[in-house]
Parts: sequence; structure tokens; C-alpha cells
Amino acid sequence: MALPPSSVPTAFFITSFLLTLLLAESTQPPHSCDSSSNSPYYAFCNSKLPIPQRAKDLVSRLTLDEKLAQLVNSAPAIPRLGIPKYQWWSEALHGVADAGLGIRFNGTIKSATSFPQVILTAASFDQILWYNISKAIGREARAVYNAGQALGMTFWAPNINVFRDPRWGRGQETVGEDPLMNAKYSVVYVRGLQGDSFEGGKLGESLQASACCKHFTAYDVDQWKGLDRFVFDARVSKQDLADTYQPPFQSCIQQGRASGIMCAYNRVNGVPNCADFNLLTKTARQQWKFDGYITSDCGAVSIIHDKQGYAKTAEDAIADVFRAGMDVECGDYITKHAKSAVSQKKLPISQIDRALQNLFAIRMRLGLFDGNPTKLPYGTIGPNEVCSKEHLQLALEAARDGIVLLKNTDSLLPLPKTSHSVAVIGPNANASSLVSLGNYYGRPCKLVTLLQGFEGYAKDTTYHPGCDDGPQCASARIEEAVEVAKRVDYVVLVMGLDQSQERESHDREYLGLPGKQEELIKSVAKASKRPVVLVLLCGGPVDITSAKFDNKVGGILWAGYPGELGGVALAQVIFGDHNPGGKLPITWYPKDFIRIPMTDMRMRADSASGYPGRTYRFYTGPKVYEFGYGLSYTKYSYNLLSLSQNTLHINQSSTHLMTENSETIRYKLVADLGEQTCQSMSLSITLGVTNHGNMAGKHPVLLFLKKGQVRNGNPVKQLVGFQSVKLNAGETAQVGFELSPCEHLSVANEAGSLVIEEGSYLLLVGDQEYPLKVTV
Ligand SMILES: *[C@@H]1O[C@H](CO)[C@@H](O)[C@H](O)[C@H]1NC(C)=O
Ligand SMILES: *[C@@H]1O[C@H](CO)[C@@H](O)[C@H](O)[C@H]1NC(C)=O
Ligand SMILES: *[C@@H]1O[C@H](CO)[C@@H](O)[C@H](O)[C@H]1NC(C)=O
Ligand SMILES: *[C@@H]1O[C@H](CO)[C@@H](O)[C@H](O)[C@H]1NC(C)=O
Repeated sequence: MALPPSSVPTAFFITSFLLTLLLAESTQPPHSCDSSSNSPYYAFCNSKLPIPQRAKDLVSRLTLDEKLAQLVNSAPAIPRLGIPKYQWWSEALHGVADAGLGIRFNGTIKSATSFPQVILTAASFDQILWYNISKAIGREARAVYNAGQALGMTFWAPNINVFRDPRWGRGQETVGEDPLMNAKYSVVYVRGLQGDSFEGGKLGESLQASACCKHFTAYDVDQWKGLDRFVFDARVSKQDLADTYQPPFQSCIQQGRASGIMCAYNRVNGVPNCADFNLLTKTARQQWKFDGYITSDCGAVSIIHDKQGYAKTAEDAIADVFRAGMDVECGDYITKHAKSAVSQKKLPISQIDRALQNLFAIRMRLGLFDGNPTKLPYGTIGPNEVCSKEHLQLALEAARDGIVLLKNTDSLLPLPKTSHSVAVIGPNANASSLVSLGNYYGRPCKLVTLLQGFEGYAKDTTYHPGCDDGPQCASARIEEAVEVAKRVDYVVLVMGLDQSQERESHDREYLGLPGKQEELIKSVAKASKRPVVLVLLCGGPVDITSAKFDNKVGGILWAGYPGELGGVALAQVIFGDHNPGGKLPITWYPKDFIRIPMTDMRMRADSASGYPGRTYRFYTGPKVYEFGYGLSYTKYSYNLLSLSQNTLHINQSSTHLMTENSETIRYKLVADLGEQTCQSMSLSITLGVTNHGNMAGKHPVLLFLKKGQVRNGNPVKQLVGFQSVKLNAGETAQVGFELSPCEHLSVANEAGSLVIEEGSYLLLVGDQEYPLKVTV
């Protein structure tokens, strides 16, 4: 079959290639190896050969200039081989987006489903919902590609850095502050997008779309008090790296089987992430068996020389990143300097070839080298799947399931339907559409503001923006708003933040509500006939202590950035067509938390210096609301039905001892126990969960583990499992958890090794505690 290309007439090459190009420019998805073109004669087009061999064949045919040109996100076409251009950079954080360069909404497909911003979806604590969303995103992405509107199928999501500091402008993109949640989210997101099953293990070579775990690693400062992510050197302890910063990435790669990772801008302990051989090659590729491609964040190679001064010359920076294991640059530094890096003998061809083989292997796994992709497993996904009824329903469900009820004095909520007048007041009530989407949004199929969502529920709705300048609220029309409030039966205030307050490249410096918002709330609440409802749209937490303790604020709802159907979801919750069940995925800190430098990466509290630690796992200070907090219109209770053993003897491998405050602590090293032993040990717990109210509801059950005696370095408590259960009024259901002692009972020691300490533990669910003893 494989004729040498030289035996095919040149004229045939040219016409068939032009044809391919023309087609690609119209609605055909760009691809290589058409049966009508020259390329089937190349081994790289032979889909019967293993992909590494095909990629190697392709790379062996490239000239040096062709090779160097492929090492950046905008990879040019290679016409003589029938290879179209490729765009590595596309975004799909909470829906297919045109925030990167690969996706265009200017053909048949003009929009895509805009799911809630991730921080709200997180609050459902429902992994199946998360998976369903990313699967929908993956299918919509394929549909966009099949319609000829995508120049690439590599998406730079999910963002799985833990939301360590409440000020972080990009915390909204994550599932919050807990590493286990981030790890589990990363796994199901990748599986859904790439075409694997929920349980995993079904993913073969072929990819529906390619996911990318970012930003590797310890990236969570954007721009704080003049210090930006490009120069920030995160000082991270081995201990925090092992049990906070790295676990999401390890899971994303090992269980999710992500085909991409992105190295972050920042340095970690002096070394730029993209130039860190230990991180990219030793940890990701060798230890975790990562087999995909590694991209830089956009511009992250140039800064290694230009801003960080880590590399003496541009050529050194390029040599550093390829030696470390990076494969493609988002940017054009390589375009400018790779040639001289090669001629100065700083960049070996073998490293270029390795990178190219990784890159072309991904494009091949995406089915872009198998001729017309309509024949491939994903080739039949059509535009009708984009913004389909099912996907919109899922977007609505995600918003509803995430919304968190923070306060509901005297059951003010739900409000009675119809026959009452309602005033909707505040800068986010009818905020120009995009506020409800958060960042990295695409083009929503339809967008419903809260105000629109109220239509059909309240007979008589009056609207007043409250502030003149959006959530910034430097200028407010408080008296007008008060007058509006006085006239109606019920008042709903819609306040919070938007991207002017928290965004990429912009961390917050203040944790309260901006400008005159607090004053507006207070004045309106005071003047209203009844206590008011406060709705907060924001990603990061805000200190709303004054509203929390204000008797005239009867109900408080947090709705993150709820996506295109967020207005419908909120109205359904407010008027009782949906029972809220979301729980906060982040600690809400008081305002004065900002005395802690954002750049202090330490997770663990240090009582000697007054450092309070971070996140519910280590933070020891006062809170406005706690991680996992959330009310509902009904009450739930738990009881323990079974615990497989209440004493766990771990007698394999040797026992180690350490002394702290003249107390001897016995422990096992997880590494000593080995994978097999770890897999053989498990603990199962079955809980009964009862809905005592008169309304059906979806309820996330959060299982925590706590040491009986929390010593220095131990988490205060640690989430070890979560599941969402749907219960009718009065119904009881069973929820089971399987715990793996090596994973769930371990903590990192100062050397960065996971250990299981002997002692008494408590399993916590709601206000219930069940003892568990561990001996080693
Ligand atoms: C869509 O936009 C791209 C990039 O701007 C352009 O090349 C392409 O021709 C446009 N397609 C249509 C159908 O307008
Ligand atoms: C997820 O999708 C499956 C299959 O379509 C469906 O049965 C299930 O109800 C969905 N679950 C959630 C929480 O969206
Ligand atoms: C709400 O915003 C939309 C779009 O920005 C605008 O057309 C509409 O008039 C606004 N509604 C009110 C009541 O101001
Ligand atoms: C380890 O404990 C198990 C029970 O948990 C027991 O069956 C086994 O004999 C013990 N092994 C040793 C070497 O003590």
C-alpha cells in the first residue's frame, strides 16, 4: 500500500493539496492524510501503525526550520506533507470558549453552552454532575471542530491549583481550597472531556478532545500589591507540596490520564516551573508516567530570561525548558531564538525531536491524521449537540445544585410565588449579561439575568441598580433604592463582585464588599417592610459579617457566577421551585485576613509568629463561614449504619518513631507499605441519611477525618469523601464510602513523605463523630 511519495506525480500533489486547503478554509475540519491526497503514502498516515512510530516517522521527514516552527502554539501548515496549521491554544473552562485562539464562533455554530463558573459547580459536591458537564463540553468541542470552526482540539482546562488565598483573582476558576476535591474534579473533568467513562479505564489511544491540567505547580498569585506572577518565586515546603499543591496534578495525570499539562509562570523555590527538570520530567513523566504534551503558559518561556533573569540569554532559556521536558511554547520566543540556540549548540536536535513526537502524537490521538474525520468515532457529532436542550438543562442544574443558602432566619426563603410586589436592587441584578459567566467564557446560547429570571414568579417586579458603576459601587443612589424598597412587599438585593474586582492578573486587596455596597444593603434592609434577601455573585469569598448579623437581612444566598441560566436557577431557588443544597468549597475569612501576605505559601499555622495557616485544613483564626457550610429548606440527619472496622492494625513494613514534646509518635511510611499493601487495605462506612423536611432535596454528604489529638503539622480536619444524594421529603437513603488508609489517613511529614500516624481518629459527618483507632 505505502508507495514511496516520489512515485506520485507532483501535479497530483499540488492539486489535491490545494483542494484540501480550500475545503479546510470553508467548513471542513482541518486534517491530514486524505485518501485523495498524497499523504496516505507516508507511514505517519498509516493508522494501523502504533502512534509513537507514526509520530517518529513524521518528525523524521521535517527540515530543521520546519521543526522549529512547530514548537509554538500557532503551528504553521507544512504544505508539502499535506499537514494543515494547528492551534494548540483553546479554552474550555466551563464551556467551549473563544478565549484562546483555536475556536471561532463565526460559522454555523455561533455559541456554546456556558456552564456556571467552576467555583459554583464545585459547591454541588457532585462528581457525576461534574463529569456530565465536561462530557457535554467535550462533545460540543468536537461539534465545533466538525463544523470547521476549530483550528485545534487541545483545551487548556481544568485549572486545578488549590484556592489557597481568598484574594486570588483566579480562584473562581477552581473547585476551591481542598486538594481532594481538586484531585477528584480534575479526574472526572479530564475523563469527560477526553471521552473516557466516569469510572475511567475506557480511554484508548483516541481522544474526543485533549484536556490540560494547569498550572503546574504552586501557582496562585496573579498580581498582588505590584508583585506579579511572572516574577513571583513561591517558597514552598516539601510538606505542603506533598499534601496540598501536588496531589491534584498527580491524580489528573494518573487517574484522569490527562493528555496535557501546563507549566506555570511562577518559580518554585527559585526554579521557574517550565525550566524544572525535576518537576516536568522526573515527577510528571517518570514518577507519574505522564505520556502527553507539556505546554508553557503564554509567555512563560520569555520571562525566564527577560523578567526572572534565571537564564543569562534567550537561548539559555530555550535550552532550559526543553531540557526540563517542555514540548511547546505558548508565545513566539522560540520562533525568534530557537535557531540561534541550535547553532550555539545549546539546544540538541534530540530534544526538539522528543518534543515534536509528543506533539504530533497528540494530534494523531485526536484523529487529525486519519483522513476525513467524519469517519472517526467522534466525526458524527453535529452542531445540533451544541446548546442542546440536554446541555442547557445541565447548565441550569449545575447552577441550582451549586447555589449555597447561607442564612434563612425564620424561613424567610422561599418567598411566596406571585401576588406580591418585589424589588430587585443592586449592581448585579441586571448586570450586563457577562457578569454571571465569570472569566474564560464562550458565547452563551442564551443568557438570563436574575431580573429576567424573576419574570413569571413575581407579579410586580421593580428594578433599581443601587450603584452607578457596577459592583465597584464608588457611587451609589442609596436614597432612591430605599424609596423603591419601601413600596414593595419583598426586597432582593443582588450584590457581590465582578471581573473588575477579581480576575486574571488582578488579585483583591480587600475582602469586604466593594465601595458603598455594605451601606446600600444596610439602608435598604432598614427601610424595607420585611427582612430582605441578599444574593451574592462572586467567586472569591467576601466578608459579609454585618449582613450575617443584621436582623433585617433575613436570607443570604451565594451564587458564584452562575452561568447562562443562572437567573432562572436563582429564581427557582428564591421562589421554592428548587431546594438549595450547595455547600461552600472555600473558607470565608474575615476582612483582616489581608494582614497575611498573599505571597506566604505556608499552609500550616505557626503559632509562634501568629501566622494563622490557610484553608479549613490548617487555618486557626475566626471565620465568616466555614468550608462545607450550607443550609437548605429541609433538615437532614445522619446515622452510622456500619463501619467495617473501628480499629485498623497496620502491621506490614517497619514502624518508625519520632519524638515531639517528649511524646513518642509511632508511624508507617506509605512508601514502605507499597502499592499492593495500600490497595489491599480499605475501610468501608455506610451512613443513613434522612430528609426530615417537607421538600425533596439534593444533599451533599461530606465525610471528614480528624485526629483525636491534632499535633503540629496535622490538618485540623481533612475531607476524605463526598457524595451527593437525592432525597424526597421524609426519605432515608444509604450512602457508602470506601476509604483507603494510605490515601485518606495519611499526612505529609516535613520531609514530604506521606505517613500514617498511630492514634485515635474521628470520622466526622455533620455533627456526628465516629471513633476510629489506628495502631502501627
Ligand atoms: C472566522 O474567523 C476566522 C479568523 O478571523 C477567519 O479566518 C474565517 O474566515 C472566518 N470564517 C467565517 C465563515 O467568517
Ligand atoms: C449524568 O448523566 C447521566 C447519563 O445521561 C444521567 O443518567 C444522570 O442523571 C446525570 N447526572 C447528573 C447529576 O447530571
Ligand atoms: C437589563 O439589561 C438589559 C441588557 O443590558 C437591558 O436591555 C434592559 O433594559 C435592562 N433592564 C432594566 C429593567 O433596566
Ligand atoms: C497483621 O494483621 C492481620 C489482621 O489485621 C493478621 O491477620 C496478620 O496475621 C498480621 N500479621 C502479622 C505479621 O502480625
